[in-house]
Amino acid sequence: MSRCCINPSILSADFANLQTELAKIATADAAHVDVMDNHFVPNLTLGLPVVERLQQISPVPLDVHLMIQDPDRWAPGFAEAGCDSVTFHAEAATAPVRLARELRARNAKAGLAVRPATPIEPYLDLLPEIDMLLVMTVEPGFGGQKFLDVTLPKIRRAAEAIRAGGGQVALQVDGGITEETIVRAAEAGADVFVVGSAVYGKEDPAAAIEGLRAAVAH
Ligand code: DX5
Ligand code: ZN
Repeated sequence: MSRCCINPSILSADFANLQTELAKIATADAAHVDVMDNHFVPNLTLGLPVVERLQQISPVPLDVHLMIQDPDRWAPGFAEAGCDSVTFHAEAATAPVRLARELRARNAKAGLAVRPATPIEPYLDLLPEIDMLLVMTVEPGFGGQKFLDVTLPKIRRAAEAIRAGGGQVALQVDGGITEETIVRAAEAGADVFVVGSAVYGKEDPAAAIEGLRAAVAH
């Protein structure tokens, strides 16, 4: 595997102490920020003004996951804020190619996400336009859910398509990743792992990050 990224999700962090919580994951590759609008998913988290401040104080790059309707309108603002990657959902975007180009033009990596029941095939031709593909491994909306093994064939097909296209696109998985499920996801071809409760739910988040790295390094 050429690279393996552990991106802890601050959805499972203490929202009253985000600066301290980000400092705990300084050894991670990025901080995953879940933006939810209570329309695309039945949960509401935080928006652009908060992310702008987090971007200024975070010790690691921000990996923003937009679970919102109308990402065509909102996503470019997160790129302008300096976020390293901005991922929007295929099910919500009106013009995914135009949006990905707008994100890249603002120096952010463009990510395209699919829910567990959304087929990946209609989007494979778009791989040259994006930097990351996110295959959701739970139904988006909440942390602490169980990894859906039914997504593994899709991860495998996505990894094959990325390899066939030259391997320039990162393959992210998000939801239910633990020291056990990360092995299955990595074997299927994922290389960027979002981990919420299995990092922030632990006594020592830095040790949890190392444990996850070790689990995929075998
Ligand atoms: C779920 C979010 C995830 C969530 C993962 O909709 O997109 O990023 O934080 O949490 P865990 O790792 O606990 O499943
Ligand atoms: Zn997420």
